[in-house]
Amino acid sequence: MAEPSFLDVQDLHVSYGPIKAVRGVSLQVAEGEAVAIVGANGAGKSTLLRALCNLLPRASGKVMFAGRSTAGVPTHLLAGREGMLLVPEDRAVLRSLTVLENLRLSHDTRPAGRSFAAANEEVFAHFPRLRTRAGQAAGNLSGGEQQMLTLARALVSPPRILLLDEPSLGLSPRLVREVYAILRDFRARGMTILLVEQNVRTALRFAHRAYVLRQGTIVQHGSGEALLADDGLFRQYLGVH
Ligand SMILES: Nc1ncnc2c1ncn2[C@@H]1O[C@H](COP(=O)(O)OP(=O)(O)O)[C@@H](O)[C@H]1O
Ligand SMILES: [Mg+2]
Repeated sequence: MAEPSFLDVQDLHVSYGPIKAVRGVSLQVAEGEAVAIVGANGAGKSTLLRALCNLLPRASGKVMFAGRSTAGVPTHLLAGREGMLLVPEDRAVLRSLTVLENLRLSHDTRPAGRSFAAANEEVFAHFPRLRTRAGQAAGNLSGGEQQMLTLARALVSPPRILLLDEPSLGLSPRLVREVYAILRDFRARGMTILLVEQNVRTALRFAHRAYVLRQGTIVQHGSGEALLADDGLFRQYLGVH
């Protein structure tokens, strides 16, 4: 039998009352792999990620992470103890806290065996703009800077798997390139990444493998490269040409 995947999702169903938003999704992510889930607005991408982190109850299905079931494990323990970190669509920086305080909280949630000062040196080497903003309230940062801060929080306390909900949403093309350059660096360090995107081409260029989600169901999967080359896919499922 093949070795079980790092993240293994089997036949997951998630509903909002009568609305079935995720209908029988199965997917796997290997350790060190970057996987994308692409789909149009309303396909169920955010619902899927939120359910993986137990922010939403599952109707049925099984989620195993690093060989253990995540059933009933509260979100904060999944993040802190298990290292499954979600960066949600709205980025969830703590707006009234300073940049430094935001980083401190991440450090304390999941200490990575080094001092906060040492972690910060690494962060500021990657994100020089955050150094100049360190004492400012995170709510006063631009959208792009807030996205950098969420990525910086992932550097401070490296997760075992990073789940990203539309990291390019609302950013200018230049900032999208910057964000993906950082994600490429994370990927090169061996960080396991599962991201969902409407920005299909950018995500497929980035991911080793990808799944296409349509109306809550996986309709196709393959290497990022193969899906990128599939024109029919874009017309049929993604509403982009
Ligand atoms: N809080 C909610 N209550 C009811 N329906 C919701 C809620 N959130 C999302 N939905 C519905 O679930 C489906 C999937 O939404 P979502 O997961 O946000 O899609 P995506 O992230 O791919 O745009 C959509 O039909 C959406 O209208
Ligand atoms: Mg969404």
